[in-house]
Amino acid sequence: MTVSTSQRIFNFSAGPAVLPLSALQEAQRDLVCYPGAGASVMEMSHRGKVIDGIIKQTEARLRRILGVPESYHVLFLQGGASLQFSMLPMNFLGTGGADYLELGAWSKKAMAEARKVGQVQVAWSGKAEGFKRMPKDGEFKVRPEASYLHMTSNETIEGIQFHRDPDSQGLPLVCDASSDFLCRPLDMSRYAMIYAGAQKNVGPAGVTLVVMSDEFYSKALEDEKRPTMLGYKVHVDNKSLYNTAPVFSIYMVGLVLKWVEEEMGGLAGIHAHNQKKASLLYKAIDGSNGYYRGHAELESRSLMNVTWRLPSEDLEKQFVQEAQARGLEGLKGHRSVGGIRASIYNAFPYEGVEALVSFMEEFRRKNS
Ligand SMILES: Cc1ncc(COP(=O)(O)O)c(C=O)c1O
Repeated sequence: MTVSTSQRIFNFSAGPAVLPLSALQEAQRDLVCYPGAGASVMEMSHRGKVIDGIIKQTEARLRRILGVPESYHVLFLQGGASLQFSMLPMNFLGTGGADYLELGAWSKKAMAEARKVGQVQVAWSGKAEGFKRMPKDGEFKVRPEASYLHMTSNETIEGIQFHRDPDSQGLPLVCDASSDFLCRPLDMSRYAMIYAGAQKNVGPAGVTLVVMSDEFYSKALEDEKRPTMLGYKVHVDNKSLYNTAPVFSIYMVGLVLKWVEEEMGGLAGIHAHNQKKASLLYKAIDGSNGYYRGHAELESRSLMNVTWRLPSEDLEKQFVQEAQARGLEGLKGHRSVGGIRASIYNAFPYEGVEALVSFMEEFRRKNS
């Protein structure tokens, strides 16, 4: 039985989020029996030839798409980006501590975990301004003795994003890219490490991608008391196969990467697609005579999570309900900031933004 795609909504969920239809359909076709294998991807040993091939192919695609230098490690881990909040300081935060950019709710969480391990210095904070923007390069100063500088490239809850690779002033730059991984081309060589939970831009929940330079990896601290699974070494040494890998999630990541590469024209194509969607939506906000008020400052507006307010909380509630009745799902803002949030990740279709924008115009006419 094939499920009709006409039943699919426009899914603005912040994550797990919309996946490319072609990836879902290929998975559906091969779910019961992976071609030539006689079994589902979910039923085979992670050490067998088929899964080994899938993992290698997925890694190779990621390296091609993102331009990952050969000297970098690519890992498929579990525990979400949240576990990286802990693993990173457990492995790298030495006596000099680490510097963090406090950019929004997720960087605050990353900092809180690092503080359990050692000293954290806030290199810049957007807190006093209500997390409405990312800092410019000249605005923060790092400590040369710090082990690394941590940033969040896109703050999912507030809807603010870096549109450049920040200058880390010589410190190894570590980036949580969970909500904008592969949304634009970037210079991987400027980062010591990028990590991302898959479930927004690159696949289903269950796998976390970690890309790390060997130079940074070689600075990992030894700690015999640290549980084996919480060190990067065991995962690097065993090519992410120390224990049972989340094979189905990795397989799905592979299908999403295939879509990025073969259907979307790589990161340049994806970036153009994201800019087109986001500019249509921001134009609707800006053209509403103040009825819709964007949260983010212009230069930090996220291409992935667009956040805005209406004249009252009652109208926001009504907006979400009426949108839902039209098949526009998942628009309620995060409880910590309120308002509306439209998550329009890589796989979100342009037509969905068009449908939202026409709903917004109609809603404003009726309710202002
Ligand atoms: C920027 C960012 N970092 C980290 C996380 C946490 O990810 P996970 O649920 O994979 O631990 C999220 C989840 O929404 C996020 O948006």
